[in-house]
Amino acid sequence: MAQYQKQHQDSLADPSGYWLKAAQDVHWFKPPTIGIDTTHSPFNEWFADGQINASYNALDIHVQNGRGDQNALIHDSPVTGTQTTYTYRELLEQVELFTGVLAARGVSKGDRVLIYMPMIPEAAIAMLATARLGAIHTVVFGGFAAKELAVRIDDCQPKIIVAASCGIEPSRIIKYKPLVDEAIDIASSTVESCIVFQRNQCPCDLIEGRDHDWGQLMKNSKPHAAVPVASTDPLYILYTSGTTGAPKGVVRDTGGYVTALKWTMSAIYNVEPGDVYWAASDIGWVVGHSYIVYGPLFHGCTTIMYEGKPVGTPDAGAFWRVIQDHNVKVLFTAPTAFRGIKREDPQGKLLHDYNISSLQALYLAGERCDPDTLNWSQEHLKVPVIDHWWQTETGYSICANCQGIEPMPIVAGSPSVAVPGYDVQVLAPDGTPLPRGDIGSIVVKLPLPPGTFPTLWNARDRYVSAYFEAFEGYYETGDAGYINDDGYVFVMARTDDVINVAGHRLSTGAMEEVLANHPDVAECAVMGARDELKGQLPVGLVILNSGCTKPHDQISAELIKKVREDIGPVAAFKSVAVVEKLPKTRSGKILRATLRAIADDTDWNMPATIEDPSVLDDITTSLRSLGFAQGKK
Ligand code: COA
Ligand code: AMP
Repeated sequence: MAQYQKQHQDSLADPSGYWLKAAQDVHWFKPPTIGIDTTHSPFNEWFADGQINASYNALDIHVQNGRGDQNALIHDSPVTGTQTTYTYRELLEQVELFTGVLAARGVSKGDRVLIYMPMIPEAAIAMLATARLGAIHTVVFGGFAAKELAVRIDDCQPKIIVAASCGIEPSRIIKYKPLVDEAIDIASSTVESCIVFQRNQCPCDLIEGRDHDWGQLMKNSKPHAAVPVASTDPLYILYTSGTTGAPKGVVRDTGGYVTALKWTMSAIYNVEPGDVYWAASDIGWVVGHSYIVYGPLFHGCTTIMYEGKPVGTPDAGAFWRVIQDHNVKVLFTAPTAFRGIKREDPQGKLLHDYNISSLQALYLAGERCDPDTLNWSQEHLKVPVIDHWWQTETGYSICANCQGIEPMPIVAGSPSVAVPGYDVQVLAPDGTPLPRGDIGSIVVKLPLPPGTFPTLWNARDRYVSAYFEAFEGYYETGDAGYINDDGYVFVMARTDDVINVAGHRLSTGAMEEVLANHPDVAECAVMGARDELKGQLPVGLVILNSGCTKPHDQISAELIKKVREDIGPVAAFKSVAVVEKLPKTRSGKILRATLRAIADDTDWNMPATIEDPSVLDDITTSLRSLGFAQGKK
């Protein structure tokens, strides 16, 4: 552990020195002389006097350095039966042209560009073109509904929306354009124009005057160069779920992010320029931003953009096929994807049909990785399986087994140790440090390393209150867990109302808001209950207004439909029951931990503060009818 320990200690002893050295590995129009400026902590600034461009670091620099003919991006799309490859030169040409398109439509530094697209190369091109102008992109995941899109439009007020006509799920074509139209109708702010990429599978109508065809605009465009921006200028906003229904706009700066991500490619993932790196996620999530688009391109790797699923496109051998076809060296995905594969092909028989010898390691993140999944993956792939823990807020991992620094023993159930730059600690509710082995709030002592989030968009106060107020001098991760004697961190559960469904971060508060708006619902609670495939699933319990005579099945169907319409299919909200009462404390607080424990069949004690213990029988019966709480009598 000596190598790792030295790096970690150096990074904490002298953060500015450590990261200024890493910053020498990226291209600056004006190299920084300042590391971190903590004058306005926690609003810290990295490399404040540096000038940089993220798109330039992703593309131009590699073409200049002789990688022009190397593949930069491979779009592998089993749902359309196509594979498309872009070399660095070709990707740069497309990005230069789309930058010209945006510039011609008046987009300039600091403007927001909202991108609502499926997993197609044009999504990455739009991101890199926005960054090239010093404008700020905000990518919204396709599985969110129009209302969620509208909330984001109102919060960041984009000058332009870039969309595709449709997305393709294995079971259906999702028409994106009507969702965009509806979102613009719902939103109170005005969107000047939309640029729509027409897909053959389902072209859409364009609204005269507002909508423009991607292909037409590209034909008439002129290439546009990268604009130098301040290191501290925002590169993107990425909305993520918090405790309330209002999503948090996580802001990412430019210089810190370019530096940190480039560093992670070798330090954490142990890949070299020219290697093929595949993050099987979606560009709508942080993993997609950091490791489908930016990280691999900053490092001169070939990135794979996969438009398919781990199973069903066409079968549980899909991942092995992609690894073989493209010589993938590192695969990164969520444990749920491997649970899906394991469920379909428990013996791993399909692996025999492919040659996956190019694979060096599998990285998992996005949710807790159960030891079964880790062990199964390791046994069948015969490569190290590295669980690593991170959040939208941090942009890359807080804890990992840094393969490029020094591979350490893999301990199932733990994402290993703190990554250099992160001083991870576990605190009691009163802020005192807990001894090794004791569970508490996992925090990171300030300052956070570069590439993390310097603020929340339009919400400076919320930035402070949500993350830095509970424990002064620390960043509160929202996760609970412990650190063992070897320094391995164990991340056990969220301390707030965020749940993790198939690696997707969702807010139970947002779902409760939808349920509470139903005219027949008097009270409700939504919690995350354990699910074998997706890790967690949301479960709703509702109390109806007195006098409501509608059949309960009808109410449930209406509520499920409403959550799908208002939040989107990604919420996977399919379980809701009507109950007479909810378990509450004498002061009226719903006992959510007890509800979760009953649903999950974990051991629990009757809370001393419960107002009426008999309520729990009715709750248990209801949860059982939904397929949960199967073990308790
Ligand atoms: N656009 C529109 N709808 C989408 C979508 C998108 N981009 N992505 C997912 N959806 C829909 C799905 O079609 C599904 O709809 P349904 O209720 O009609 O079936 C719903 O949202 C839930 O999707 P998902 O949770 O992805 O489940 P799934 O049933 O489609 O697939 C797994 C199951 C296990 C294969 C899948 O969850 C998986 O592999 N997920 C990958 C996890 C991941 O990439 N996480 C990102 C963090 S690293
Ligand atoms: P997101 O912001 O969508 O990346 O979700 C971040 C949250 O997912 C974290 O706060 C954790 O609750 C959970 N998470 C991510 N990675 C891991 C991991 N490796 N182990 C346990 N939980 C994880």
